[in-house]
This record gives sequence, structure tokens and C-alpha cells, in this order.
Amino acid sequence: MTPPLPAWPYSPYIAHRGGGHLAPENTLAAMHVGAAHGFTMFEFDVKLSRDNVAILMHDDDVDRTTDGHGPAKDKSYTELSLLDAGSWHSAAFAGEPVASFAAVARYTRANGIACNVEIKPCPGREAETGAEVARLCDEYWRGAAVPPLLSSFEEPALAEAQRVAPHLPRALLVEKVPADWRERLARYGCVALNINQKDATAALIDAVHAAGYRIAAWTVNDPARACELLAWGMDAIFTDKLADIRPAA
Ligand code: G3P
Ligand code: MG
Repeated sequence: MTPPLPAWPYSPYIAHRGGGHLAPENTLAAMHVGAAHGFTMFEFDVKLSRDNVAILMHDDDVDRTTDGHGPAKDKSYTELSLLDAGSWHSAAFAGEPVASFAAVARYTRANGIACNVEIKPCPGREAETGAEVARLCDEYWRGAAVPPLLSSFEEPALAEAQRVAPHLPRALLVEKVPADWRERLARYGCVALNINQKDATAALIDAVHAAGYRIAAWTVNDPARACELLAWGMDAIFTDKLADIRPAA
């Protein structure tokens, strides 16, 4: 018998890194752009500063997305918060700061925006980042109608998130779909498998659903592919193309 699918109170359209390509990724400015394009769910990447403050950043190093240099894990929150995380994108965003997770949680909750919190640990800090981000999610979203979806490529982070906040929904992120995806999803008590869209087929979507899980795909930037995946039953897609792929008005 097919198990029932877990609750999925999420939009099928998720703005990747907040504002996709239209704004500096993982900033509050990106969230404003995502909201202005009608998105009601954002994905963003969270890691810890040297002094254990949760911030939004994708890369291990600050170089690509700020005017600073070096590994994020070596910088204190004060050092990170003084960086310009907007100018690399365009002059319109000059001076945009690195976002704190606390500020993004406050903004999204206040505006009824659902979140996929991707736990993106600095190298070597997988377990502690999973634990701290899950603790913060529990605190920031206590009593919320829609809980954040926690996800990670890093299984030690997911395991810690499960231990610290077992009630919060989790998704396993994979670069390539492993043969034992059913076992891994069960191990971490996940509700969803988040895959590279290149691996998405109708058969895989059906198999994941038949196993009792949701499935989402990153990063879908071709509108025809987005339509195809959603027609196949993909539960959600992450996109950078906020003007072309978005919730219907
Ligand atoms: O969470 C979906 C997607 O963001 C995973 O890849 O590298 O963009 O964080 P990445
Ligand atoms: Mg991400």
C-alpha cells in the first residue's frame, strides 16, 4: 500500500537564494525582490560565523559575494556584518550587508513567507552548524503556522537537526540521486528529497511519491522545464529566474 504523503504547506515556486539572479544572493534585499515578484517561499543558505552567529552565505569564502577575502569561518559576526554583500551584484545594491539569519527569520515571518533553510556549514563544522541552525529555527518559528523546511547536502548536519528539532520538517539535498535514497530519507526522518533538476524524471517523481516522500528540484531556470516538472508532479522547484518562472498572479 502506498504510504500517505507528508504535509507540504509550501509553494511549488521557491525563489532561490531569496532573489535569484535579480539581487545579491542571500541578502534581505534579495528577499524584498523575491516578495515583489510574488514569491511566497524562499530558499537561502545558512552557516556560522567564527563566533557562532548564523548568517546567510553560500560559499565557504566571502570573496565572490562580498568585498572581503578569505574563509567565512575565520570571521567574527562583526567582521562579516561590515562587509558589502551587494556591490558585486550591481551598483543598485551597494552597501547591502551580509544578512543575519535572525533578521531574515523576522522578515519572512512578518510577511508570511515560507522558508527552506539550507544548512550550508563551513567545512569541518557540519554537525555543530546543523544543531545550531535547528535550534534557532525552533526558536524563531515557534508557534508559526508554516514551519521552515530544513535541508542539507551534509548528512551530519541533517542528523543533528533531527536530534535537536525532530518536529521540524527536513529534506535531504543530493548532488546525484543515490541508489539508497529511500534508506537515507528514512534515516534522517525526512519529508522530501531535493534533487538536481537534471536528474528529474517522471518515473523518479512517481517513485519518491510512492515511497511516501515529497520531491523538489533545483535550480530550474528554463520556463518550459519548470512547466514539465510541475506537470509531472514535482512538489516544488527552485528558480533564479524570478521574472519568468513564478507563482501566477
Ligand atoms: O537548496 C537548493 C539549492 O540551493 C542547492 O544548491 O549550491 O545553490 O545551495 P546550492
Ligand atoms: Mg542553497
